[in-house]
Amino acid sequence: MIETPLAAAGPTSRTLREPDLRAPITPSPTAPLIQVTDLQKTYRTARGTLNLFQGLNLQVEPGEMVAIVGQSGAGKSTLLHILGALDAPSAGTVYCASTNVAKLSPREAAAFRNREIGYVWQFHYLLPEFTALENVAMPLLARGISKREGLELAANWLREVGLDDRSDHRPGELSGGEQQRVALARALVNNPRLLLADEPTGDLDETTAGRVFDLIERLHASHGLTSILVTHNLDLAARCTRALRLEGGRLAPLAAVPQTTLQTGSIEPKKHPFEC
Ligand SMILES: Nc1ncnc2c1ncn2[C@@H]1O[C@H](COP(=O)(O)OP(=O)(O)OP(=O)(O)O)[C@@H](O)[C@H]1O
Ligand SMILES: [Mg+2]
Repeated sequence: MIETPLAAAGPTSRTLREPDLRAPITPSPTAPLIQVTDLQKTYRTARGTLNLFQGLNLQVEPGEMVAIVGQSGAGKSTLLHILGALDAPSAGTVYCASTNVAKLSPREAAAFRNREIGYVWQFHYLLPEFTALENVAMPLLARGISKREGLELAANWLREVGLDDRSDHRPGELSGGEQQRVALARALVNNPRLLLADEPTGDLDETTAGRVFDLIERLHASHGLTSILVTHNLDLAARCTRALRLEGGRLAPLAAVPQTTLQTGSIEPKKHPFEC
């Protein structure tokens, strides 16, 4: 049986039911799913002001699978956090899944994330004391779905990621690739429109990373997702429908990159398929 703070909350869990945050007019299915305009993000620290984004623009259409690459510290994770209503912009507008994310209260933001966003990080962040099945069911319980139904839906998702025979394993009893597949199932169990993945294969060996990416591609297509993937792996970025580089606080199409130079130190140039 699952014992979660949410399940234990009893009647108060009703307050977790999400308010209707959609735009009053149903958006066209072909309208951009993400529209970021003139985004600024400024951090003020004891050592001064960091202007991370300086007029960043991004438009993502439904069904796109967009890779974002960039140096460490460029702001890739911060951008995903802002898109997913985990962090607030300093200025500019961010529409994500028909929602002006900067205008959400903390409670509305939590409901928005639960309903619209599937989030996968480099580290799986599964709860170690719960089984794979219970971990996948968590977002459903947070929406107030009954445990019985939640566990049934979670079991379907574990089957979809090829782990139905591991449902009673705790995260510590799973391989890195399996943990990330469980994290994917948990991210998608609420049928979000948008998958935000922050270096989802960054902690895996090359073969396992390729398999997890195969799974992401398959789920992206079969569930009609719109996906944004942050990666340092240019080969994986090249498999996305579009690849962007975050540099100097702005996004630009990923230009020709001598991949072998970046990855192995060889000077043999290799043209990137997303040359602009
Ligand atoms: N809360 C914060 N306060 C001050 N500075 C911050 C804060 N959060 C992030 N930063 C800074 O913003 C910059 C961008 O961080 P971010 O984590 O988005 O980079 P990243 O591109 O994801 O890097 P990596 O590839 O290493 O994950 C970094 O220089 C970081 O130190
Ligand atoms: Mg990061």
